Amino acid sequence: MPEVDFAALTQAARSAAEQAYAPYSAYPVGAAALTEDGRLVTGCNVENASYGLGQCAENTLIGQLHITGGGSIAAFTCVNAKGDTIMPCGRCRQLLHEFAAPSFQILTPQGITGMAGILPQAFGPQDLAEVV
Ligand code: THU
Repeated sequence: MPEVDFAALTQAARSAAEQAYAPYSAYPVGAAALTEDGRLVTGCNVENASYGLGQCAENTLIGQLHITGGGSIAAFTCVNAKGDTIMPCGRCRQLLHEFAAPSFQILTPQGITGMAGILPQAFGPQDLAEVV
């Protein structure tokens, strides 16, 4: 696996944040991921007047992942409106876990880590496989 260009991925996330629809929280988020087969996919948060229906940036990114061919995520990062790197919320860590490649890397405010660094002892597809 070649070294990930997290600077470029951060720039893509910043561009995505500019497309956010966040009139209620006033907290735009942009997310960007590199797939295992080398595609760039992005997402932004899309809120709703029915507040609980708001979609996180990671959520719309996962939709982009699938509509552009599926596969696994090799690298990921997300930013706020200032362009600063932020952590995905707990729900979004689980969303990412579902599609994370074994080599998954994430740029966090504290540096680069893997999936276990952000979601230790994760529940996932393997847990379902054990009982069905
Ligand atoms: N948000 C994301 O898009 N991703 C995260 O991981 C954290 C939170 C959004 C949800 C909401 O639209 C706004 O940020 C404030 O919570």
